[in-house]
Amino acid sequence: MTDSMKVAVLVGSLRKASLNRKLANALVELAPPGLTFETLEIGDLPLYNEDLEDNVPESWSRFRQQMKGVDAVLFVTPEYNRSVPASIKNALDVGSRPYGESVWAGKPCAIATGSPGGIGGFGANHHLRQSLVFLDMPAMQQPEAYVGGFSDLFDEQGRIAKDDTKVFLEKFITAFAHWAVTNKSGS
Ligand code: FNR
Repeated sequence: MTDSMKVAVLVGSLRKASLNRKLANALVELAPPGLTFETLEIGDLPLYNEDLEDNVPESWSRFRQQMKGVDAVLFVTPEYNRSVPASIKNALDVGSRPYGESVWAGKPCAIATGSPGGIGGFGANHHLRQSLVFLDMPAMQQPEAYVGGFSDLFDEQGRIAKDDTKVFLEKFITAFAHWAVTNKSGS
């Protein structure tokens, strides 16, 4: 595995006490060596409006630049109304333009969805996959990560408190490390 793989982590919840952010942090901690993770801010991106391309918001430029500098993407997100939160969809839209300059194409990715509910954000996970097909991002198929019932998953330090879930998440992030390396653009 190469040391040069940089991974952007995009978290779909913007709230401070987000359980998905804890899930993202836990995944990063469980990751094998060889990947460098950075959680990128997406909450300050103005909603995509093509008129703004005439005077591009500073946060759009920053995000596009940051994304151009990474090799892979880890999406960790809640489900909102059986779909992807607007924050994630907006980040995808901002990064996909100007036409022909998408920051996404060819970047391997994986999706983990988390919810206090029983189906673990399945709807968000699969709606997101629909956009990733068009954006030409190789999305890891297996293992799938629908982390249900996660209200009591974390201890006070934010670590995973359930051994079986920890084992599964370690398997997931290890598979992603392999996926990211083997699908690295240009490799
Ligand atoms: C939700 N929630 C939710 N949960 C779910 O399993 N399926 C859903 O469709 C929805 N829809 C939904 C819409 C909106 C607007 C909110 C705010 C919440 C509940 C959601 O999973 C729960 O609040 C999570 O804790 C959100 O993730 P974070 O913020 O803890 O990371």
